[in-house]
Amino acid sequence: MKKPKIAVIGSSSMDLVVTSKRRPLAGETVLGETFETVPGGKGANQAVAAARLGADVHMIGCVGDDAYGKEILDNLKSNGVKTGYVKPVTHQKSGTAHIILAEGDNSIVVVKGANDFVTPDYVKEAMSLLKECDLIMIQQEVPEETVLETARLCDEIGVPLLLNPAPAREIPDEVIEKAAYLTPNEHEAGILFKGQELSKALSNYPNKLLITEGAAGVRYHDGSREQLIPSFPVKVVDTTGAGDTFNAAFGTAIAEGQNMKESLRFANRAASLSVTGFGAQGGMPTRDEVERGLAE
Ligand code: RIB
Repeated sequence: MKKPKIAVIGSSSMDLVVTSKRRPLAGETVLGETFETVPGGKGANQAVAAARLGADVHMIGCVGDDAYGKEILDNLKSNGVKTGYVKPVTHQKSGTAHIILAEGDNSIVVVKGANDFVTPDYVKEAMSLLKECDLIMIQQEVPEETVLETARLCDEIGVPLLLNPAPAREIPDEVIEKAAYLTPNEHEAGILFKGQELSKALSNYPNKLLITEGAAGVRYHDGSREQLIPSFPVKVVDTTGAGDTFNAAFGTAIAEGQNMKESLRFANRAASLSVTGFGAQGGMPTRDEVERGLAE
């Protein structure tokens, strides 16, 4: 199978993860159980996941000139992600995500830090690389104008764009029209298509709008009818990074030339494996692990 070349434009952060029996209410203090720092950020997570699945991955991002920045860069490199376009930004802190794992789910506060320097002009510096890619992936932990400009650039150079619209915010119609694939979860889809029935939105964007529904799977419209590709049941340790793994696996498979159904099945299998390990990247599977999982 062809090794696809993928550029991921996005955030790279350090995740500060606390486990606790329950999350505190406003104004309350609770005693937690463990504390870990692990690499994260939606962009870096997607880059690492795609590299583990066999893609040739180039990250376009920014880190701070601090110890976290060095750790984030080392982690990308050790996972085989090319970092020629990951710039350390002076006098800025690396992005951080403050995560509470409690009651079987996570709550996250993201401080973008250096990720705010992934500007349209910075993306344009990578133009020659972007033109050679089979797929470009972006998320929403970078400035809004970067997402818009990237959609325009992709349209101009004819490279498909996979937009994972997370975290949720409203986006211009132009971005929706110019993206090749959109992968909101149900909550994000509700914000993107406010006031519309989601099944109507799906039929308006066949083979493009892919709405993830967690353990239930992923829903899309194939041009004739709505399809639900079911997920794979597993014992969940930590759901952080499952969406990122889904996006990376879908992007890798579709850029390899697999069809929509096969790509979504591959993505669901990869995402289901990712939740069996701790941390956003801890459970992200290799290609062999996904293939073995699909054969089970
Ligand atoms: O999608 C999971 C990621 O979201 C975490 O790694 C954290 O960095 C947050 O940005």
